[in-house]
Amino acid sequence: MITINEHYLKLQASYLFSDIARRVSDFQQANPDREVIRLGIGDVTRALPRACTEAFHKAVDEMAQDLTFRGYGPEQGYEFLREAIAESDFQSRGADITADEIFVSDGAKCDTGNIQELFSSDVKIAIPDPVYPVYLDTNVMAGRTGAFVDGRYQGIVYLDSTRGNNYVPELPSQEVDLIYLCFPNNPTGSTITREQLKVWVDYARDNKALILFDAAYEAFIRDDSLPRSIYEIEGARKVAVEFRSFSKNAGFTGTRCAYTVVPKECIAYDSKGGRQALHSLWNRRHCTKFNGVSYPVQRAAEAVYSEEGRTQTMELVNYYMRNAELIAGSMKELGFQFVGGENSPYIWIASDRDSWKFFDMLLNDAGVVCTPGAGFGKCGQGYIRLSAFNSNENVEKAMARIRLALG
Ligand code: MLT
Repeated sequence: MITINEHYLKLQASYLFSDIARRVSDFQQANPDREVIRLGIGDVTRALPRACTEAFHKAVDEMAQDLTFRGYGPEQGYEFLREAIAESDFQSRGADITADEIFVSDGAKCDTGNIQELFSSDVKIAIPDPVYPVYLDTNVMAGRTGAFVDGRYQGIVYLDSTRGNNYVPELPSQEVDLIYLCFPNNPTGSTITREQLKVWVDYARDNKALILFDAAYEAFIRDDSLPRSIYEIEGARKVAVEFRSFSKNAGFTGTRCAYTVVPKECIAYDSKGGRQALHSLWNRRHCTKFNGVSYPVQRAAEAVYSEEGRTQTMELVNYYMRNAELIAGSMKELGFQFVGGENSPYIWIASDRDSWKFFDMLLNDAGVVCTPGAGFGKCGQGYIRLSAFNSNENVEKAMARIRLALG
C-alpha cells in the first residue's frame, strides 16, 4: 500500500498566493466588468531591461548553430555569471565572496525551500512571524514541526516582528540551531541595521547556529548605511547562507534566475560534533537534483552587470519605488500606521480590521488586490501588505479607488 508523507496533512489547505489567486479569479468570474488592480503577490509588470533581452536573443542565436550550441552546463552555473556576481554584488562592497561560492539556480523560492534538506530533522528552528510562507511550509513538509494549533506550528520558535520592535525580531529566549532572516523584509518591508544584524551573526557564532539570510530585495535599499548582504558583517562567512534573486531587480519572475551563496567556511555539525562544510553538501544536492539554469537565461542575467544593464536595472527599481512612495503617501493621508516602502517594495499596513475582511473589502469596494497579513502568520493579523509592483498609472488609480472606498 502506498502511503503519504503525513506531514503534508498539517499544512494549511493551500499556499497563500494560490489561495489569493483563486479568490481573485472567483471575483472576476462573478464580476466580469470590474477591472481589478493587483497589488498582492510581488510580481513585476515591466519588460526585462533591454541589455538582458539583447543578451538573451544573442544566446538563443548561439543555440541555433551547431558550432556555438551548448548542452548541459555546469550545475552550479556558468563561470561568466558566477564571476560577475561575486565581483559586483560582493567584492565591490568589501564582502569576501568568490565565484565558486555562488550556486546559480532558477529561484530563491526553490533554494530557500530546498536548503532545509541539509539539516537533521530535530534541529530547533527560529522563524519570524510574519514570514514568507515558504520557510515555514517546507519545514512542516519535512516533519520538523508538530501540529498547527491556534495559528502556529508546535515545535517552531517564532520570532515576533511587531510595531513594538519596529518589525525587527529580538534574539530568541531559548537556544535555536537554524534561523531564517529576510531583509529588506518580506512581508513587512522593514530593514535591519548593521549593528542589529551583527547581533544575530554573533548569536549564531556563539551558539553553533546557522542563519539563512534572504536578501532577495536588497536592490530596493536606498539608505547606504544599511547592509545589502550579511557578508558585510564580520564573521558571517562561517555562519550564514545568503539567497539572492534577479526576479525583483531585473524583472526575472517569469524568466527565472537566482543564486545562493554558501561560503566555504560555513559549517554545520554531524551527530558526533564533527564539522561538516555546507558548501560540499549543497554542491552534492545541487548536482544530484538540478541540471542548471538555461544558457540564454544565464547570459541575460550576466547582462544585469553590464554598464547598460546596471543603468536599466536601476531605472526599473526606481520605477517601482515611485509606486512605493505613492502608496506610502496615500496610507499616511488616510491615517494608517504602516512600515516599509522606503527601502523595499512592500508596505505593511496596520488596521483594526481582520486581515481577510480587509482583503475582501478592498477587492469588492475598490477592485484592488492586497495580501492579507494573516496569511504570513499570527502577528500579521490586522495587517495587509500592498506591493509596489504594477504600473505607475495603476497604482495611482488603485490609491484613488482606496481613498474613495474608505472615505
Ligand atoms: C511575494 O509576493 O511575497 C513574492 O512575490 C513571493 C515570491 O517571490 O515567491
